[in-house]
Amino acid sequence: MTQDLYPVKPEFAERAHIRSMEEYQRLYRLSLDNPEWFWGEQAKALTWFHPWQSVFDADYKEVDFSWFLGGRINASFNCIDRHLATHGDRTALIWAQDEPGVYTHITYRELKHHVCRVANVLLHHGVKKGDRVCLYMTMIPELVYTMLACARIGAVHSVVFGGFSAEALRDRIVDAKCKVVVTANEGLRGGKRVPLKKTVDRAIEGMSMVETVLVARRTDGEVSMEAGRDLWLDEEMTRQRSTCTNEWMGSEDPLFILYTSGSTGKPKGLLHTTGGYLTYAAFTHKMVFDYHPGDIYFCAADIGWVTGHSYIVYGPLANGATSVIFESTPLYPDAGRYWQIVDDLGVNILYTAPTALRALAQAGDEWIKKYSRKSLRILGTVGEPINPEVWRWYHDVVGEGRCTVVDTWWQTETGGILITPLPGVTPTKPGSATLPFFGVKPVIVDPATGAVLEGNDVSGALCLATPWPGTARTVHGDHKRFKDTYFTQYPGYYFTGDGARRDEDGYYWITGRIDDVINVSGHRLGTAEVESALVAHEAVAEAAVVGCPHPIKGQGIYCYVILNQGYANGGKEQLIGALKEQVRQSIGAFAAPDVIHIASGLPKTRSGKIMRRILRKIASAEYEGMGDISTLAEPDVVDRLIKEHQVVSK
Ligand code: WT7
Repeated sequence: MTQDLYPVKPEFAERAHIRSMEEYQRLYRLSLDNPEWFWGEQAKALTWFHPWQSVFDADYKEVDFSWFLGGRINASFNCIDRHLATHGDRTALIWAQDEPGVYTHITYRELKHHVCRVANVLLHHGVKKGDRVCLYMTMIPELVYTMLACARIGAVHSVVFGGFSAEALRDRIVDAKCKVVVTANEGLRGGKRVPLKKTVDRAIEGMSMVETVLVARRTDGEVSMEAGRDLWLDEEMTRQRSTCTNEWMGSEDPLFILYTSGSTGKPKGLLHTTGGYLTYAAFTHKMVFDYHPGDIYFCAADIGWVTGHSYIVYGPLANGATSVIFESTPLYPDAGRYWQIVDDLGVNILYTAPTALRALAQAGDEWIKKYSRKSLRILGTVGEPINPEVWRWYHDVVGEGRCTVVDTWWQTETGGILITPLPGVTPTKPGSATLPFFGVKPVIVDPATGAVLEGNDVSGALCLATPWPGTARTVHGDHKRFKDTYFTQYPGYYFTGDGARRDEDGYYWITGRIDDVINVSGHRLGTAEVESALVAHEAVAEAAVVGCPHPIKGQGIYCYVILNQGYANGGKEQLIGALKEQVRQSIGAFAAPDVIHIASGLPKTRSGKIMRRILRKIASAEYEGMGDISTLAEPDVVDRLIKEHQVVSK
């Protein structure tokens, strides 16, 4: 194991914000012993209109946490206005358009004008503090403008990833009760047009809740505009002034809602608030990526997920950074795309996902070697466990051994990075997210007994023992669900849903979800969501969905389906196609199943509970070690499923 330790590179330690393991350990200790002092210091990096009265308050029984209570702050002010006096002409955003080599630079001053105009458009259409606004867009600057415009006037944005279907979008609009939706006529991604407006139209058909749809113009594609409801965003913006005051938000006022999948069919809208979230996003961005003024920072995630919220928009802009927003995909027009951007823009920090790296590694090193990449310094990864081989490839081939790899573990719920190396501090091990960030105390719990496993070399359920400012405060409209999902399984701890090992050196290795959530290309998906999409089809009597290993996506979607009488014979291929389409329609194309296994039965206990453990094993073609199957109502179903599996996976 030790030979696989990558020491800190001395030139990194020299310039880093935190320069040694000793310094990290000292600060880490302080952050746990005296969190109020520690986080009070970090929050001072932001500009507050009015100081807070107390750093941290908690009602642990009600799971009610508040940070910087009494403080007044605005996220848009912190991401824009406060930079203007000293570096208004610095580039805030570089929009790397879908078409290779086409970039738009937006300075902080320009950003202010755009954001204020959008803010005034929203105000003009009756959006008030606390109102929810749904953003359904692809990666265009208007998405960032609208997020910050909401923040500026105190509205709460709910960004829905542009790959979700009309049905999924509708559920999210209804759940958050959004009266305004902001979209674009079409998106552009990998040379293809994404029919955003058309999908919005389908999502809100017959819905009186949505009063206004603002449509950004990305392409020349024509879309139908409903009079009295739909308006072109650019036309509305030109009618508005380019100044707009920042609301003095309470630190605990909501900033955004972001939906994510859980173990049940209904996605949860995690609610993040203002002061603590922004403090945490900004501080982690600075420390983990060792951000220094002038760095060109490129997070290749989509703003539709939390990575884009915290590490394209809020963290980098609060730090006055230059942040790249990337409209395309790593493979368009070829596997050299990232590295072309790196060379074109002089990118110093790259943050991406293992699934993209696996696809690029597979495409061959020649795509990488075509470009110099000499500006790169920090290489980040997030979203799923990174295979050690891919980690080494990232370090050795992409970074030519010069760069530091930071494997950052966190979640939509956590608001920011929690377990991660620090470039000037942490010797890294390929595949390990290494050590906790300041203020974070991971604990490993035995899932069978609930006992906390002390010491090193232990594995179990990953929990967190201490609160941090970036954590989500609730599930929008359902605080009970928030409590039940995260705080009841292991009383006194936040349960992450992940399994992890703490190795002999105290390093953390995330082993993946241990609940009914799968991680497909870094997209989090509840197996129950896919199941309910499948059973909505008339042919399906019952469905059970599990993850299976997938060489690029990390996990693939494996669906066991029991058909209703009369559907079992003939037309199988066609039916499988129809079921895949059903899931696309109900969730989105990214959730399309990899395997539909028309099964002759499911392994159930006598009380009728499906034994998913067995289904996971079969889907992974691991036929050994099924464990005790004698409790099954119908033990021979296992052999039948194995035989059928060999047929489907051919
Ligand atoms: C789940 C959270 C956090 C932003 C993107 C995903 C998995 C995340 C890592 C990592 C291993 C990781 C976990 C986690 N995950 N980062 N570095 N190593 N697993 O956010 O959609 O909320 O998903 O992603 O399973 O629970 P998300």
